[in-house]
Amino acid sequence: MKVLVTGGAGYIGTHCLVELIKAGITPVVYDNLCNASLESLARVERISGQAVAFVQGDIRDPDALTALFKAHRFDAVLHLAGLKAVGESVAKPLEYYDNNVVGTLRLLEAMTAQGCVNLVFSSSATVYGDPQALPIDEEQPIGATTNPYGTSKYQIERMLADWACATPDARVIALRYFNPVGAHPSGLIGEDPKGIPNNLMPYVQQVAAGKLQRLSVYGDDYDTADGTGVRDYLHVVDLAQGHLAALRKLTTMAAGKTAVNLGTGIGLSVLQLVRAFEAACGASLNYQVVARRPGDIAACYADPAHAQEWLGWRAQLGLPQMCEDAWRWQSSNPSGYADT
Ligand code: NAD
Ligand code: WQD
Repeated sequence: MKVLVTGGAGYIGTHCLVELIKAGITPVVYDNLCNASLESLARVERISGQAVAFVQGDIRDPDALTALFKAHRFDAVLHLAGLKAVGESVAKPLEYYDNNVVGTLRLLEAMTAQGCVNLVFSSSATVYGDPQALPIDEEQPIGATTNPYGTSKYQIERMLADWACATPDARVIALRYFNPVGAHPSGLIGEDPKGIPNNLMPYVQQVAAGKLQRLSVYGDDYDTADGTGVRDYLHVVDLAQGHLAALRKLTTMAAGKTAVNLGTGIGLSVLQLVRAFEAACGASLNYQVVARRPGDIAACYADPAHAQEWLGWRAQLGLPQMCEDAWRWQSSNPSGYADT
């Protein structure tokens, strides 16, 4: 099986590559490197002992995509390429709609033209907005998003549903990730955010490493057990294995588009994550409770039943493993891939 992996040089993409290669699938990475470096792919090659085919290009470039699809006969596409910073999307909405929505449109055009109609897409739990009920199952309404990033994911899901309807034999799985964290247990690949991280786990990692002074905990007055925000943190290796399960499902599922939550089903608070990280790194973390972050919701965690029943996938790794692996990556690569 040969699979095109757009955005394959990024955080989640590199972990997917390792699992794909392990399963005997041949990936071809297509990435414009706007948020990644070639070193990440060199690390994947070290882990897997295999060369990784790479083409530098943009998903919005129709000529480059046509050349790519003519050079390879892909059985499926794992579409991870996209911009993902919520705050930046509020400041630069058109960049997000162009990159994420128009980019996906161009990709679908190229796939249709070349008769490649099997797709797994990186969606996000952010499409549910503030959930109506917990845990969140796939039947809950989507679209009440609170920022352009989230809206771009929602619009793409709509576009994929329409494309799947209109395209004979098209098979599409939208994976709605909850909160991916952690790193490969080798310590060779992990999340390498540019600048000050927006997300909790990379921020915590950098406080533990002494790169940032203090974590701000955004609110302790939510209606949750300890008052801090609750999320469904998911080990990135589990997430990568979910992609493998989805790729396999493409070969047996009925034509059309289906969405699947990828989460553990367990809600954990900010303070629970901080405590677990302290145990993993063997030091206490400097933090201070501050005001709520605008746009945040109290709690968000998955109902993972559909993933288990339909994909045959469930998360295996718990919070201690997520923190230990994140800390191994952080402490052995204090400046990420730039250390090399
Ligand atoms: P990432 O930034 O590490 O990886 C995205 C990759 O896409 C990068 O390597 C980047 O260079 C590439 N890229 C971006 N725009 C491109 C374009 N126009 N053409 C070609 N390549 C392009 O992010 P990630 O965390 O690995 O996320 C992967 C996907 O998963 C994204 O679509 C993201 O929205 C989605 N997602 C991520 C999270 C998360 O918390 N990390 C949660 C839910 C969904
Ligand atoms: C988690 C919890 C914060 C930072 C975002 C996107 C979502 C998805 C994943 C891509 C919350 C608290 C955070 C900090 C804190 N990405 N926090 N101090 O907000 O659930 O989701 O990333 O699709 O679209 O919105 O993740 O890691 O930012 O926050 O207290 O410095 O940690 O308030 O409760 P979030 P997060």
